[in-house]
Amino acid sequence: MSKLTLAEEAGRRRTFAIIAHPDAGKTTLTEHILLAGGAIRAAGAVRARGENRRTQSDWMKIEKERGISVSASVMTFEHTTSDGVAKMFNLLDTPGHEDFSEDTYRTLTAADCAIMVLDAAKGIEPQTLKLFEVCRLRDIPIITFINKLDREAQDPMALLDEIASRLQLDPAPIWWPAESGNRLRGMVEMGTGKFQPYAKKPAGSKEDVPHPAALPLADAAQYFEAGEHEALMETQELIEAGYPTFNRQSFLEGHMTPVLWGSALRHFGIDELLAAIGEWAPPPKVMPARKEAPPETRNAPAPVEIEVEPGHAEVTGFVFKVQANMDPNHRDRIAMFRMASGSFKRGMKLKVQNTGKSLSVNAPIMFFASDRELAEDAYAGDVIGIPNHGVLRVGDSLSESGLIRFAGLPNFAPEILQRVRVKDPLKAKHLKKALEGLAEEGVTQLFRPELGSDFIVGAVGQLQFEVMADRLGEEYNLDVIFEPSPYAEARWIAPTADGTKADLDDFAGKYRPQMAVDIDQAPVFLAKSSWETGYVSERFPKIAFTKTKERG
Ligand code: G4P
Repeated sequence: MSKLTLAEEAGRRRTFAIIAHPDAGKTTLTEHILLAGGAIRAAGAVRARGENRRTQSDWMKIEKERGISVSASVMTFEHTTSDGVAKMFNLLDTPGHEDFSEDTYRTLTAADCAIMVLDAAKGIEPQTLKLFEVCRLRDIPIITFINKLDREAQDPMALLDEIASRLQLDPAPIWWPAESGNRLRGMVEMGTGKFQPYAKKPAGSKEDVPHPAALPLADAAQYFEAGEHEALMETQELIEAGYPTFNRQSFLEGHMTPVLWGSALRHFGIDELLAAIGEWAPPPKVMPARKEAPPETRNAPAPVEIEVEPGHAEVTGFVFKVQANMDPNHRDRIAMFRMASGSFKRGMKLKVQNTGKSLSVNAPIMFFASDRELAEDAYAGDVIGIPNHGVLRVGDSLSESGLIRFAGLPNFAPEILQRVRVKDPLKAKHLKKALEGLAEEGVTQLFRPELGSDFIVGAVGQLQFEVMADRLGEEYNLDVIFEPSPYAEARWIAPTADGTKADLDDFAGKYRPQMAVDIDQAPVFLAKSSWETGYVSERFPKIAFTKTKERG
């Protein structure tokens, strides 16, 4: 039992995600953050853990073959930061590949802070930009980590200028690197003048050597070659004068990003990054929600907009991801539940707001870096895995009262729509079930046209189809064929503010052959081209054609 109050328990949690363009070093950094936090003992464990998972679950072969990560999860560890407070860190793992941006987007809804990793030689790359935009949209504050200093890097000032100009974010350097690549000497802390020397890996050695202890820059001449030491002291003055000092409020409001540097591979700058996360990343945020009876409740009071404080007594939260097949023998599904408030105890009964269903959470899972454990208790900011057999879907809100509804987990209109058939016609029923299962997990989207018996499957990227085909084969024993569909776009439809249900019915009647429903039975218009979407939206001004649908 915790001796801390609810608000204190919530206040010591840091739930964050790492965003990066593929290859910038997200996996390596994850591993070294876990190492710095004492969650694992040796580098290589995250990959080893990945390997393990992969051998358990065949569909993840695809991850291995492509060398990409497609399944997001969470890693939890407790670490005492320099202020003496034992903090709980929840690192949400986001898939890096761009085809999975939808998944990443949902994971970011569960994060309170993001670490943006840049490759020091490349700066901001396309996927960095996309992910950054998601964070900005959701007001997620960003800590920047410029990685791979052990290789030849761009000029640090140019990197900061790029952050300022392309992201409209004020960079506040916390440290400043002394050169890079072969000439990397270390880094100096702005304000304090503390110098952290860098120890090069001896040529021909496989072993890393520890970096020497930090010392005042003035006393660090031994780490430099002729002229470099004085030059760095001058640079430090210049940088301190030329860039704003870090302001936490401005960071929390999304105007400023603290910039740290290092080399994930060489475990340089990682302790400093972890300290920054512990000190500056916000504790679980207050979340907007609605108090609303489940649909179809008789005489239900009107919904009320509320704000859920992390210290609020009732357990509330939402499912941001459903992960299947962590154990292929059981075909289990684990719903990743991000808590927004309350004190969760194992065995508790929670209700799903949108269905009114109730479930006893007897075997909740906490994901520690090296192990999974039953969660006995959890607080706001924590992510627990709830095993279930399809009761929980992405976007579901759970609470003790069953009346709290969090919005904001979107579905995106797919960019590719294909028809899917099973080779053995006797297995058509199985196909339906399997497709529904995958759609509930959010792997792909499923549309059932009003006319005809085909299923249309939608995805944001081609890779999603490959994952899907692989999983249909491995888990459901279904040999499927994807065929081109006549549709180019899918749009959710609803009456606009001055439209009515009759307008919707009128439209649906005229376009019956192109009408479908999604997994939640929401009406969808399947357009043959983007021109057609434009055309119908002009002709039917009382209908809204939308590219995203908020779930939950
Ligand atoms: P990702 O998850 O963002 O895609 O990146 P990942 O960590 O897998 O890193 C991509 C490559 O960059 C890896 O090399 C990794 O070792 C390397 N890397 C990561 N951080 C650093 C760093 O600080 N310095 C240097 N020099 N390299 C770094 P790889 O050759 O593709 O893979 P591997 O054979 O090393 O596993």
